[in-house]
Amino acid sequence: MSEKVSVRDIMKKKGREKIIAITSYDYPTTLLIDSTGVDLILVGDSLGMTVLGYDSTLPVTLDDMIRHTAAVARAKPKALVVADMPFMTYEPSKRDALVNAAKLIKAGAEAVKIEGGIEYADTVEALVDAGIPVLGHVGLTPQRKNQIGGYRLMGKDPETAEKVIEDAKAIEQAGAFAIVVEFTTAEVAKVITETVKVPTIGIGSGPYCDGQIIVIHDIIGLTPKPPPFAKKYVDISTLIINAVRTYKEEVLSGKFPSEDHYWHAPKNVIDYLKMRFQKNALNYR
Ligand code: KIV
Repeated sequence: MSEKVSVRDIMKKKGREKIIAITSYDYPTTLLIDSTGVDLILVGDSLGMTVLGYDSTLPVTLDDMIRHTAAVARAKPKALVVADMPFMTYEPSKRDALVNAAKLIKAGAEAVKIEGGIEYADTVEALVDAGIPVLGHVGLTPQRKNQIGGYRLMGKDPETAEKVIEDAKAIEQAGAFAIVVEFTTAEVAKVITETVKVPTIGIGSGPYCDGQIIVIHDIIGLTPKPPPFAKKYVDISTLIINAVRTYKEEVLSGKFPSEDHYWHAPKNVIDYLKMRFQKNALNYR
């Protein structure tokens, strides 16, 4: 796709073509990712783990999200840029959600993502009414890991299956343009995909969704403990370690920097420096 991707483009793909979504958190990685022609780039609050070294998404702040969203937006990607609303930036009230979502939009996001189902349908509606497109997120909602009891597969029993499906329906009704379905059984994701009219974007939820999303650090081998559903396509950590080791060895051995990595002063400056150095040296004798 050569044109800028809009929310409408994502919606039109349902039932026609798979939606390709992936996270990104910085400027250079976004340039690389966008050159492949993906549809949607999520500045995920997963940056808490992938980039900031926390062990969950809970400590991520709105300022963290604003800084990384702005960095991604500066790469001017053709893909739609969606920013995650971090924990407790939309839960307290609809007003909080509106004020905080607006900050992410001003930083360069074109839509926001919020985790949750029926209980946040009103919030989704308020954002959409204010002109802020919303990507829903149902199934495993990592911001609620303490309540759920960890990162559990959802939809293994009739109760959670029913709840996730009802959540997706409520979020669709509220006006979300698409819904992330995280770590549900494939069968539950299939029912949701066949029930709602907006696209579903799966992660760890099997092949029946309208698209897939994945964390960039997981596919390039930069996540120390990736989730069980992640697939590693390249091991960039070995490349980084080898490059740094070689750099270290070359500095120690004097191989780096070599003539092609530094510059000499012109002859008149060399003569001047020699004169100054010799004069100073004499002064000290
Ligand atoms: O924060 C994130 O990266 C996400 C994706 C895993 C969907 O929410």
